[in-house]
Amino acid sequence: MTFEPVRGTRDILPEDVARWQRIEETFREIARRYNYREIRLPILEQTELFTRGIGETTDVVGKEMYTFPDRKGRSLTLRPEGTASAARAYLNHGYHANDPFQKWYYLGPMFRYEKPQKGRFRQFYQVGVEALGSLEPSLDVEVISLAWALMRELGLGGLWLRLNSIGCAEDRARYQQVLRDHFADSIGRMCKDCRRRYTENPLRILDCKEDRCQPFVEGAPGSAEHLCPECAEHFATVRALLDDLGLFYRIDPRLVRGLDYYTRTVFELISDELGAQDSLLGGGRYDGLIETVGGPPTPAVGFAGGIDRLAIVLEERELADGTAEAPSLDLFIASLGIEGHALALRLADRLRQGGCSVDVDHRDRGLRKQLAEANRLGARALLVIGDDEVRTSRGKLKTMATGEETDVDLTAEGLAAAVAQGG
Ligand code: HAM
Repeated sequence: MTFEPVRGTRDILPEDVARWQRIEETFREIARRYNYREIRLPILEQTELFTRGIGETTDVVGKEMYTFPDRKGRSLTLRPEGTASAARAYLNHGYHANDPFQKWYYLGPMFRYEKPQKGRFRQFYQVGVEALGSLEPSLDVEVISLAWALMRELGLGGLWLRLNSIGCAEDRARYQQVLRDHFADSIGRMCKDCRRRYTENPLRILDCKEDRCQPFVEGAPGSAEHLCPECAEHFATVRALLDDLGLFYRIDPRLVRGLDYYTRTVFELISDELGAQDSLLGGGRYDGLIETVGGPPTPAVGFAGGIDRLAIVLEERELADGTAEAPSLDLFIASLGIEGHALALRLADRLRQGGCSVDVDHRDRGLRKQLAEANRLGARALLVIGDDEVRTSRGKLKTMATGEETDVDLTAEGLAAAVAQGG
């Protein structure tokens, strides 16, 4: 019997992991520059945190959650996203009372029972930021600027920012009525889900991907036309500040995002390369979420980006312009004979303690195969230890790029200095 990974999950193999590490490290570095601190949140939460926080009528809660009873019959859910957990942690640890302005970031796996396809998995990984405790439009813009900085640092172009405002709770209620009026005549010709959404939450109709619904959705009025004066002013300031920073966006009047907690600013970064018009990253304000999960009114804004999707775009970029990161190793020590092998192991051990990356042969292979291995591993330098080298305690260090050979003392100090010079 053999086992396969669960549908929608996969192994990120060592061959691919460098790209993932680059995304994660770049994200941490950008978060540091913007002064966001890391928070690590649990993967399991009480189901109700998500049903309340994200909203009963969303696809995520309605059909995508991995929910199960634990051994005591309590309903738990594998987190489908990080924002609700961040809101819970904010309250649990009393930040709202003691230190209400917080800028956090996180990375990790999320789980949604979606139909797997390119760039869509059931276990996927996000990088995210949450800035809690301020209503200022400058915070929306900082979060968007951070998202752009991440993309820039990863060398990703060909992206565009969809931006919209869906206003406050009252604006949203008004807009829902506007949508009901708009769809009143056409809803009978739309899909089953949309007919349900029409009564439950007409905003969700705007997310419908069904072809037959598109002509009706495209004609729908935009949310930004129905904002109260305060929300309209907030949106105008966000746009002015984005302009000021030279951050480009396209207003998409029907962008509402798939989670119910959003208020005012919503945005997505889209890559033309990903196909299926899927977003690389999405976020917005959620000024009502903390209250929904039991806290005082607390404005907040954030985003999450999909690491899986970023990795796909980076890989396609590398394939297109041949810039894939080659493996690298400071030194490979090939050896012959028992004593040669023992010396190789001793030297490797000492050099590793000093910070060098070193590999040796572990398969008792002939010299030719060991040299091929050194090449395959991208070793920058090569040392061969045979009987002569053991006897004289001297050897030749070869710089692989130039073929140049240097005489070296076979001591860890002598070698380390030579390897550093050769590199
Ligand atoms: P979201 O738009 O649901 O927002 O997800 C954010 C990103 O996660 C997407 O743009 C996409 O790159 C990635 N993603 C989502 N689902 C999948 C999937 N099934 N497979 C692969 N990647 C996926 C949120 O999750 C919000 N919590 C973002 C946020 C933070 N809003 C405010 N703060």
